[in-house]
Amino acid sequence: MPLSIVILAAGQGKRMKSNLPKVLQPLAGQPMLSHVIATAKALRADAIHVVYGHGGEQVKQALASEPVNWVLQAEQLGTGHAVAQAIPAIPDDHQVLILFGDVPCVRVPTLQQLTAAGADGLGLLTVILADPSGYGRIVRDTAGSVVRIVEQKDANTKERAISEINTGLMSAPAQLMRKWLAALKNDNAQGEYYLTDVVVMAVRERVRVGAVICPTEVEVLGVNDKVQLAQLEATLRAERANTLMLEGVTLADPARVDIRGQVSVGRDVFIDVNVVMVGTVELGDRVRIGPNCYLKDCRIGADTELHPNCVIDRSVIGAKCSIGPFARLRPECVLHDEVHIGNFVEVKKSEIGVGSKANHLTYIGDATVGSKVNVGAGTVTVNYDGANKHRTEIGDNAFIGSGSMLVAPVKIGTGANTAAGSTITKDAPPGKLTIARSKQVTIDGWKRPEKKK
Ligand code: UD1
Ligand code: CA
Repeated sequence: MPLSIVILAAGQGKRMKSNLPKVLQPLAGQPMLSHVIATAKALRADAIHVVYGHGGEQVKQALASEPVNWVLQAEQLGTGHAVAQAIPAIPDDHQVLILFGDVPCVRVPTLQQLTAAGADGLGLLTVILADPSGYGRIVRDTAGSVVRIVEQKDANTKERAISEINTGLMSAPAQLMRKWLAALKNDNAQGEYYLTDVVVMAVRERVRVGAVICPTEVEVLGVNDKVQLAQLEATLRAERANTLMLEGVTLADPARVDIRGQVSVGRDVFIDVNVVMVGTVELGDRVRIGPNCYLKDCRIGADTELHPNCVIDRSVIGAKCSIGPFARLRPECVLHDEVHIGNFVEVKKSEIGVGSKANHLTYIGDATVGSKVNVGAGTVTVNYDGANKHRTEIGDNAFIGSGSMLVAPVKIGTGANTAAGSTITKDAPPGKLTIARSKQVTIDGWKRPEKKK
C-alpha cells in the first residue's frame, strides 16, 4: 500500500523558552524536525505532510528545500485536529503513518513494524516504562488485545499500575483514519481533539488494534524542554561515538567527542578529547586529531596529524601533513601532501603544494603556493585593498623571509627569496633575492629623550 506520512509539528513548545520553534531546536547539529523528515524519507514514503502551526513560517523557511507538503494548522486544537488538516490530501488507498516532530529518535525498523501493524487495522506504538506516570496507559483484555487507552487522570489504581504506555505514534489505512477523525469530539478536560480517541472507535468497530512495543525508550522520548533536549543529545553522542569505535577508531574519551553529521574513517584513526565534527568529515588511515579541534566539512589524508586546538573549515588536507597547534584553515583550502602549517597560522581560499611549510604566525589568503616553499614567521599575503581581493602566487622552492608583506596581486618566482621584513609590491623574479625595505642606518650621537624635571 502507498504510504503517506504525517509529521505533527504545530506545537509551540513553550517550555523551550526560546524564540526558535521547538522543532527547529538543534539536535546533533540538525533541527529536530530534520531527523524526523530523514526517517520519513528512509521509509520511502510516497508523500510526507508536515503540519506546522500559526507563526511556524520560520519552520517552513528553515526546511524549505525538503520534499514535503506543508499543511497549516492555524489553531492548535489537538493532535487529532492536526492530523485532520492533512488527511484531505491523502488518497483512500494510502496507509497513514503519524509521527511527531518532537520525537526525533524513532528508528526505521520500529516504524516498519508499526506500519505492518497498521496495514489492515490500527497500529499503535507503545513502550514499557519503569515510571509510566503522566502517560496514557494501554489497557489489554485477558487475550492480550488492546481495548482502550486510559489517560492518567481517568485511570483507577489497577490501571495506573500498567507500565505499557501510548507513544502517540500510530498507523492506519487512510480510509479508516479519515472516518475516525471526522467523528472526533473535543468534550474532554482540555477541549482538544485527541488523536488517541481513534483507538476506542477502532475497538468498537472490531477493527484489529495491533500494538507494537518499542524496543528502546529513547526512540520514543519526546522533547519538551532544554533538559530533555540535552539528554537526547547525550544519547546520540554516545551512539555515534560507539559507531566510530566499532569502525576501529580509538577515542581518548567517547563522552568527549561530538559528531554532528557524517564522519567516515580509515583504519587506526585516533581522536583526542573535545573534538567536534560537523557536516561531512573524512579521515584517512592513521589520522590523529589532537584535543580541542573543530572540523567542519573536510577531508584529511592518511597519516596527517592535527595538533591541539585547530579549526578546519571546508578544506581538504593531503597525506602526512602536520597542522597546528592553533592553526585555522578557513573555507576552500587545498593542502597537498606533507604540508606543515604551524601555530597561529591562518589559511584561507589557498592551495599549498607538496612539502611546503608555514610554521609560525602567518596569514595566507587567496594564494597559490607551490611545492617545497618555506614561508617565514609573520608573513602576510596582503590580499585586500579595502575594496577587492587579490591573489598571491608563490613558485616552487621559494623562500619567503620572515615578516614579508606580499602585497597582492603579486608573484614570487620559482626559487626566489624575499628578504626578511620586505614589503613586496612588485613581482619577485625567480632564483634571486629581492629586498624591499629601507636601509639600516645608525645615528651617531643620538640620545634617548629624558623626562622633563
Ligand atoms: C500525546 C498523546 C499521549 C502520549 C504523548 C506521548 C494525544 C492526545 N496524546 O500527548 O497519549 O502519551 O503524546 O508523548 O495525542 N501537535 C500539533 N497540533 C496540535 C497539538 C499537538 O501539531 O494541535 C503536535 C505537537 O507539536 C507534538 C505532537 O503533536 O509534536 C504531540 O503533541 P503534545 O501536545 O506534545 O501531546 P501530548 O500532550 O504530549
Ligand atoms: Ca509531548
